[in-house]
Amino acid sequence: MKVLEEKILSKGTVLPNNVLKVDGFLNHQIDPELMLEIGKEFARRFKGKGITKILTIESSGIAPSVMTGLVMHVPVIFARKKKSQTMVDDLFTTAVFSYTKGERQEISVSKKFLSNQDRVLIIDDFLANGEAAYGLAKIVEESGAQLVGVGIVIEKAFQKGGDRLRSKKIHVESLVAIDSLANREISFKKHKEV
Ligand code: G4P
Ligand code: NA
Ligand code: NA
Repeated sequence: MKVLEEKILSKGTVLPNNVLKVDGFLNHQIDPELMLEIGKEFARRFKGKGITKILTIESSGIAPSVMTGLVMHVPVIFARKKKSQTMVDDLFTTAVFSYTKGERQEISVSKKFLSNQDRVLIIDDFLANGEAAYGLAKIVEESGAQLVGVGIVIEKAFQKGGDRLRSKKIHVESLVAIDSLANREISFKKHKEV
């Protein structure tokens, strides 16, 4: 997605340990117009797949997911990292290991929002090692819903998450794929326009 690549080049910075900082439009301050374009692009790529729900994880997956849900006219669920006091219902829960934080975390979704009638699109801001997306996929599986695919705003293609999901025959669409952040330079993977 050209506008997203341009935005990353103009506003993104590379931190040590291959981390791309995009807090100016995605991870802290949010650019609503760009999020809407992202939503339209996910809707286009997953058109005609009968999606009934979008599933993401708090916090940074929410903005692109809500815009996609708006365009597709489907509800958006975000998995919670901390159980809220109002989460008294039965939960689907799974453990996710964060490599960047070096810790294991439980993520949960209330059983009342996912059923075996649903066709689910998972969306997240980053795909690195794939732990978050994989955890969300496990929750979809546990609910008996159908996982239609995974939409990622920024895939770090030099990390193993993309291969991990695709090797499980999961349909992954990333709007931009980054090949390398070495020497603090952002290099995008060559892509075919679809
Ligand atoms: P994984 O889910 O792909 O395995 O990712 P990992 O554990 O490595 O990353 C943990 C957190 O860091 C996730 O956000 C993920 O989106 C984010 N992340 C991974 N690589 C980058 C990067 O290069 N740049 C930025 N900005 N984020 C990255 P999170 O902790 O769940 O936070 P949030 O969603 O509340 O923002
Ligand atoms: Na995230
Ligand atoms: Na994040």
